[in-house]
Amino acid sequence: MSCKAPDPHAALPFGEASMNASPFLTLHELVKKARQKLNHDNWDYIVGGTETETTVRRNRLALDALAFRPRVLRDVSQVDASVQFLGRTLRLPLVLAPIGGLELFTPEGGAAAVKAAGRFGVAHMLSSVCEPGLEAVAQAAPDALRLFQLYARGDAGWVDAVAARAVAAGYGAFCLTVDTAYYSRRERDLAKRHARSGPMPAREFQARLTWSDVTRLKALLPIPLILKGIATAEDAKLALEHGVDMIYVSNHGGRQLDHCRGTMEVLPEIAAAVGGRTPIMIDGGFCRGADIVKALAAGANLVGIGRMQCIGLAAGGEAGLVRLLEILEQEIQICLGLLGVNTWAELDRSYLHPAPPASIGATLGAFPLLTLDEQSFY
Ligand code: FNR
Repeated sequence: MSCKAPDPHAALPFGEASMNASPFLTLHELVKKARQKLNHDNWDYIVGGTETETTVRRNRLALDALAFRPRVLRDVSQVDASVQFLGRTLRLPLVLAPIGGLELFTPEGGAAAVKAAGRFGVAHMLSSVCEPGLEAVAQAAPDALRLFQLYARGDAGWVDAVAARAVAAGYGAFCLTVDTAYYSRRERDLAKRHARSGPMPAREFQARLTWSDVTRLKALLPIPLILKGIATAEDAKLALEHGVDMIYVSNHGGRQLDHCRGTMEVLPEIAAAVGGRTPIMIDGGFCRGADIVKALAAGANLVGIGRMQCIGLAAGGEAGLVRLLEILEQEIQICLGLLGVNTWAELDRSYLHPAPPASIGATLGAFPLLTLDEQSFY
């Protein structure tokens, strides 16, 4: 999308049409609406992390610890925030990260998310523990760029059978989450004695995964294989040696191992190890357009949106999520123009500089104007 000489007197140079159609003008209004609509258990499920929630905060801190080095006087009237990914044009370099239990936030669950992704034009990754399941979600938006993420809940035969179903349902890539050998202690749930999903059957299969499963899946799959939850250069190199097609840098949004580095702190060593041989996906704390711009400047190809996706859906279902993406698009387009670039290809690490973080790294610290009626430890 290119920008036609924005009116300097307009409140927003981009997206005026949708501004008129939606009650939401800012992201924090969507956050607030989501909080109003969710009960405390589901709110905590979205915003919470493991144990001290240090990893959650470090995701935000790592983003805040990067400042921009903008360039000026470069004719930025043709800003284009789209990217090519898996042979498709995406309107933004975004994937809706896999989220289990989206049906807790909106009745349609994963179907609402995939429809929003298809309507807006970003990729969608379905979690294997999200309703209404992989075939129904595929049918909800057959033309969307759909990726599928799996938690192993059975032996190799079980995993391979689900992989075959994902291929048959037209998913464009298969993603194995590898940072979840054990389910962490989420103290927001424990402290309330809230059983999130009851006893989780067959969890031990996730703990038994090894690189030999990656070799087997790679041989089996006719579609690209992604590993989600890579957090070191060593494992990124091993992934490449095993033929993995995409590296997904993630600490599960701070919901698994506590005391990790923020993913933006991890990204440079992964980008160096990968050396452009595969695309890199990243998630963890990405809330604003500027956050996404930082990731691409630092070498990522696609950014995953986890909690913000839940917030869009909780605030307004499919339409709420589309609106959230529209606002992110405006933020990204303006950010690119103000940095002095028209396209992602012009961006690199020279546009970033280490800086003292300006926040304490709260999960929703990206929204200074956010006020919530009820104390909720966000
Ligand atoms: C997740 N995440 C996740 N990851 C995964 O591989 N499979 C899953 O089923 C889930 N489920 C899930 C539920 C909820 C409510 C959240 C918030 C997260 C992790 C998710 O894909 C992603 O890695 C993080 O959410 C990214 O961080 P942000 O964007 O939430 O800060």
